[in-house]
Amino acid sequence: MIRGFIFDLDGVLTDTAEYHYRGWKRLAEEEGLAFTREDNEQLRGIPRRESLLLILKGRLYPEEKILEMMERKNKYYLEFIREISPRDLLPGAKELLEEIRLAGRKNALGSASRNATEVLDRLGIRSLFDAIADGHSVERQKPAPDLFLHAASQLSLPPEECVVVEDAAAGIEGAIRGGFRSIGLGPQERVGKAEAVFPSLAGVHLDEIFTALDRKP
Ligand code: G6P
Ligand code: MG
Repeated sequence: MIRGFIFDLDGVLTDTAEYHYRGWKRLAEEEGLAFTREDNEQLRGIPRRESLLLILKGRLYPEEKILEMMERKNKYYLEFIREISPRDLLPGAKELLEEIRLAGRKNALGSASRNATEVLDRLGIRSLFDAIADGHSVERQKPAPDLFLHAASQLSLPPEECVVVEDAAAGIEGAIRGGFRSIGLGPQERVGKAEAVFPSLAGVHLDEIFTALDRKP
């Protein structure tokens, strides 16, 4: 029985994955570092510091400089999200969150972002969540399962009764490690390890999800 859903935020409910990319891109340009959209695919779901370390590709910097660069990227990101409104919800997202609630199931957020609640508020969907797990909730982020386990425990549900909905390879990995059901959004190369894959949440209802998950053992 599936009783809960744990949604990632960036790239699942809204396209803030693009804003994270643009923030890193601007920083990389200022620092003279090569960074492409393709490189960015590896950064999906990855926390701020680890993302920066991936962009630095092993180059060594003093801790002070690392902190300054993280801060600068976040400043750019905050500028981007200042304009977010309910219009920025991705197609199908709010409909599915509402349908889940109407069906007596629960919604949780499972995002590594420290800015997640601000984005939820700007999107106007915070009240649709029964639990929030974000960048402040656990020490070990994705691909560790800790964030999703934290969300499930707040919902008082065991992992096998929860579906994790993710656009990142690291998120699907975390879901699998934690014993969760999983739905991947995006290309097979990225989220193909999920039990079921959809291009996005557009037109995805509970029926489709249950059918897709039942087909797999
Ligand atoms: C999410 C995003 C990542 C981002 C991370 C930390 O996982 O997918 O791109 O780096 O959150 O976000 P933050 O807002 O705390 O820098
Ligand atoms: Mg994401």
